[in-house]
Amino acid sequence: MAQELAAAWAAVMALARTPRPDGSTPASIRPLFAADPERFRRFSHAADGLLLDLSKTAMSDAVRTALLGLARAADLPGRRDAMARGEAVNVTERRAALHMALRGEGGFRAGGEDASAEVAGVLGRMRDFAQAVTEGRLRGATGERFTDVLNIGIGGSDLGPAMVARALWTPASPLRPHYLGNVDAHAWEEIRPRLDPRRTLVLVASKTFTTQETMTNAALVRAWLAEGVGEAAVGGHLAALSTNLKATAGFGIAEDRVFPFRDWVGGRFSLWSSIGLSLAVALGWEAFDRLLAGARAMDAHFLSAPLEANLPVLLALAEVWHVNGLGYATRAVLPYDERLARLPAHLQQLEMESLGKRVTLAGKPVGHDTGAVVFGEPGTNAQHSFMQLIHQGTRPVPADIILVKRPDHAHPDSHRKLLANGLAQSAALMRGKTEAEVRAEMTAAGTEPAEIERLLPHRVFPGDRPTATLLLPHLDAFTLGQVVALYEHKVASLGILWDINAFDQWGVELGKQLTGPILKALEGDTAEGQDGSTLGLLAALREG
Ligand code: F6P
Repeated sequence: MAQELAAAWAAVMALARTPRPDGSTPASIRPLFAADPERFRRFSHAADGLLLDLSKTAMSDAVRTALLGLARAADLPGRRDAMARGEAVNVTERRAALHMALRGEGGFRAGGEDASAEVAGVLGRMRDFAQAVTEGRLRGATGERFTDVLNIGIGGSDLGPAMVARALWTPASPLRPHYLGNVDAHAWEEIRPRLDPRRTLVLVASKTFTTQETMTNAALVRAWLAEGVGEAAVGGHLAALSTNLKATAGFGIAEDRVFPFRDWVGGRFSLWSSIGLSLAVALGWEAFDRLLAGARAMDAHFLSAPLEANLPVLLALAEVWHVNGLGYATRAVLPYDERLARLPAHLQQLEMESLGKRVTLAGKPVGHDTGAVVFGEPGTNAQHSFMQLIHQGTRPVPADIILVKRPDHAHPDSHRKLLANGLAQSAALMRGKTEAEVRAEMTAAGTEPAEIERLLPHRVFPGDRPTATLLLPHLDAFTLGQVVALYEHKVASLGILWDINAFDQWGVELGKQLTGPILKALEGDTAEGQDGSTLGLLAALREG
């Protein structure tokens, strides 16, 4: 097994180092199209209405075969199925990673228990609560209907729901959603004027219910509620979404206002759990249910499609080719849909918190690079900010381009322009512009030969910059559920391929630990033990 895996890695890396039989480099894309008029058909894949085009990457047939060989050697199907069986794939925390069970499909078990039955119970409570709020049966202390829902949470208890709300909320939605994450009280000060405590439902979302930022904001908002509706009525405006039932009780939240989930749900995979309650309330239960249905459809695809047609697996293999084969350390996420503006932020946490690991499952240093740095902005805005570097910078940056076929507005001309820009970016990144093309273009424009020579190096584009294009028929709750689950399964697949634990996050602990004594020092306690720089900065902060 280990030998087979090493051989599979060696086969991929050898292809990355050796020129192709036609003499082209392993990173070049254009020759692949020149040699194969069928390339788009053979390197694009459809599943339940989604289309993923990987033809504009440097994946040749030989590379794809080698990558699929790597997936088999790593026993990706077996380890994927172990995750679905509820085995403790999160080895450091001895936990399952069963976010798939949250989408409401029956039959999932964790640690011998029927996880699906428990999920169904919580989903039922969420539905009843959300419908009571949206139908006006459950009201605020003064008898007014809730018009706003404020979710207090950070990281996975914020980014996923905030991203979905940004994508799917319309003025016709039942309630207005708001998300408070940062401990910086400017965030609360910015939201506060938009809220009336009499009409605001507050959800404290925290897996652990110990996160400093969330607990601090929860206390601020609780005080604001008490001032607005009276201390005795605060409970009627609050609910908690958490695994830590002791702490929610300690915060004074009544049991029937606590929506639990289990520790086998990772924070960044938790938007489908009670952490998504703000969505069920703000968008309506039907939308949340469709979101789950979309994720369920992607789960079924991930669990059953053959590797060579399996969208999350293919995305993961393309990432291995880029990160390990070609040494591309970053990736841009470019949704050509303004409503997906927060998708890059969600994927940043999902991918970087999951895949930013330096040791294998067995605790040995990994022999290869792992998670890419992920960043992004909606197109076309990105084109007018960082795309210059992606076109002409020294380090290629693969990009995911997300296009939506049918918009929800009545401005077809704008939409055609949006789509044209997205397609043009991926074409330009692949094609580039040669010296000969620049010369011909400038000559045709009547530019002086000396001026052409002066500008030539600046106007040449190297090209061969890979993109993966994901085409959605429409942006709605179902397709968004599919997209988010697609990336979740891509992450799980990469964890398997890289032999790392995609489900823990020890790296975030140190900063949290060091915050305690520094906070004490800022409050006037000793700063002893801090490094010279921190001491200097503390002194500057305390001055005057
Ligand atoms: O600090 C990182 C982290 O633990 C994330 O993994 C998590 O999504 C976030 O903090 C919030 O945690 P909690 O939901 O427990 O408040």
